Amino acid sequence: MSRLTAPDPSDVRTARDANGGAPPSTPRPGRAGDGWPSAPAPAPATGGRAAAAPTSAAVAPLIQARNVSVYYGRHEAIKKVSVDIPEHSVVAFIGPSGCGKSTFLRSINRLNDLIPGCRVTGEMLVGGTDVYDPRQDMVTLRREIGLVFQKPNPFPKSIYDNVAYGPRLQGIKRRADLDPLVEDCLRKAAIWDETKDRLHQSALGLSGGQQQRLCIARALATKPRILLMDEPCSALDPIATRKIEDLIGGLKSSYTIVMVTHNMQQAARVSDRTAFFYLGSLIEYDRTSEIFTNPSNQQTNDYVTGRFG
Ligand SMILES: Nc1ncnc2c1ncn2[C@@H]1O[C@H](COP(=O)(O)OP(=O)(O)OP(=O)(O)O)[C@@H](O)[C@H]1O
Ligand SMILES: [Mg+2]
Repeated sequence: MSRLTAPDPSDVRTARDANGGAPPSTPRPGRAGDGWPSAPAPAPATGGRAAAAPTSAAVAPLIQARNVSVYYGRHEAIKKVSVDIPEHSVVAFIGPSGCGKSTFLRSINRLNDLIPGCRVTGEMLVGGTDVYDPRQDMVTLRREIGLVFQKPNPFPKSIYDNVAYGPRLQGIKRRADLDPLVEDCLRKAAIWDETKDRLHQSALGLSGGQQQRLCIARALATKPRILLMDEPCSALDPIATRKIEDLIGGLKSSYTIVMVTHNMQQAARVSDRTAFFYLGSLIEYDRTSEIFTNPSNQQTNDYVTGRFG
């Protein structure tokens, strides 16, 4: 898919005006048919269990945050966070309300750019390229990194048109191309059987849990490489929650998923790695089993055992 717009340098300055003078990283040659460049060679360990993900030595992480800070005006909401997220893994962000989970999640696809007075420093590498590089094409970025919000937000359109929305923007117009794509995404989001006979009815007529799975189908339709989910189940009942959790488990063979959750059992059930944030800092990041059974930090232990937060 060709690039649709040129990057807007003024947009980037807003987000990065305190980059410490660091030059933007140089984009690397792209992989054929893939919006992202190949990942570079593995970065050296950044030291300490808090920042270094226990990844395979042979494969570079898909997402590499390096000393990322996010400011709202003078308030430093995220403080020099470094984290490696391997491809085809599920990573959960946990921590008390206001600790910066959503802020950090949004910094991965530059959604914070839309917030006046918000700026980001450090490097956010995806596939080896800094997404804050002024040459970053925003259409590619948003296509490659899908986002699912806490509250299901289907468009006031038919079920079919919700899923077809992104592909149509990308220039896919023929029914012969769209029909199988829509079906495939609805199947992947485990909602095909419930919608196949009402594809042209309004998405707003679906239940909350169905709407959330439709939003996941819509996010999948642009063929993203990464799915960001901010508390995707918090508005859902236990049965709908379980469906989304099962879905996430199935999607990770094709996607890399980063999710925010307040539900410790959910983090334990669905994620491979868990990052515990507190007051804007990444306190500990490790395999989920370690975080929940043998955390190295007392604050992590207190949080996951329900002693605070
Ligand atoms: N648009 C904004 N403008 C100013 N400050 C903000 C904005 N969004 C978040 N903040 C502040 O940044 C900090 C982190 O907020 P954030 O929403 O990232 O936390 P969170 O961990 O996602 O919380 P929750 O679990 O309640 O969703 C908080 O102090 C919050 O008040
Ligand atoms: Mg949040």
